Amino acid sequence: MNKILVTGGCGYIGAHTIVDLIQNGFDPISIDNNSRSTPALLAGIKDITGVTIKNYKVDLSNFDEAYAVFQENTDIKGIIHFAAYKAVGESVEKPLMYFENNLFSLINVLKCANEFNIPHFIFSSSCTVYGSPDKIPVTEDTPTQPAESSYGATKQMGEEIVRDVTKAGELQSVLLRYFNPVGAHASALIGELPLGKPQNLIPAITQTAIGKLKEVTVYGNDYPTRDGSCIRDYVHVCDIAHAHTLALQYLIEKKNKEKSEIYNLGTGNGVSVLEAIHAFEKVSNHKLNYKIGARRPGDIMAIYANNSLAKDKLGWIPKYSLDEMMDTAWKWELKLKQDEALHNNPNFQMN
Ligand code: WQD
Repeated sequence: MNKILVTGGCGYIGAHTIVDLIQNGFDPISIDNNSRSTPALLAGIKDITGVTIKNYKVDLSNFDEAYAVFQENTDIKGIIHFAAYKAVGESVEKPLMYFENNLFSLINVLKCANEFNIPHFIFSSSCTVYGSPDKIPVTEDTPTQPAESSYGATKQMGEEIVRDVTKAGELQSVLLRYFNPVGAHASALIGELPLGKPQNLIPAITQTAIGKLKEVTVYGNDYPTRDGSCIRDYVHVCDIAHAHTLALQYLIEKKNKEKSEIYNLGTGNGVSVLEAIHAFEKVSNHKLNYKIGARRPGDIMAIYANNSLAKDKLGWIPKYSLDEMMDTAWKWELKLKQDEALHNNPNFQMN
């Protein structure tokens, strides 16, 4: 089986991608220093697939530590690089921490890929690179704009680094620009584990509904959109995960025309904040406590994808609806609460 290195494999998208890779016959290993994740999702992966994933708890921004993992696994056939900090607000306060972690990690992984002649590389990029687009939906040719945050800058620089290293060497790469990944695996055994108060909308909704948070603040309803709230392209995390498997197969089967190719991963449907809230209320049968607040600095008004290139070239067809995104996100939140209750239960015996 093809051994695939997933960096950030204990994270939200990383864990869902590992499940999809296993179910498509790959043999994943993970490198994750758990600075922004816990090994908890590895247990969920085992429950879903029966496979115990080996995670190397290594800081990729330390070259020697990263190199040692590659020395121990000289049969790695491909790399999917997720490992990065991704909190937009934090990146504005701590730019150097973001540039050091996100770029040093990427550069070290690419150096090892060259050193060990690993042919295939998938880079986790983001719609953030488009900034606030003049025209939507955005295609892969839509010009990128100056990043609004250091997080976005690391994604733009990351894309340039991957493309230049690909051009100069033997590597073949695919850069995947995620829109807004949401939801959880249907089993509710893996999902998003935001650290602290969630910045993203969907976990803020589910944590409010479950009672962890008092209310959701809608950051502005005075935008020139159909209902005044911002529009985004929410896409189920399992659809995002499957796109990585398809991109890997695409490179392995040498279907790529260019050495490095870029794909938008969005559903192509724009959904407003208020529409997302109402969809959640419908599927959860739960009246959500929310209020209208001030706009959030750095937010763009609207963005959603033209995803026809990923469909045509990778054969990627996102299959989860907005209702399924909300339903799986809610079921995951309910499972977390159930597990919490179980673990807090004095009669609960760890087996
Ligand atoms: C979505 C909408 C908020 C929280 C981020 C990253 C991006 C990508 C996806 C990685 C916005 C509104 C939110 C809340 C709200 N991540 N909102 N109340 O900012 O579109 O993108 O996640 O690739 O890089 O920037 O996602 O979920 O934070 O916000 O009204 O409590 O929900 O204003 O309009 P965002 P988000």
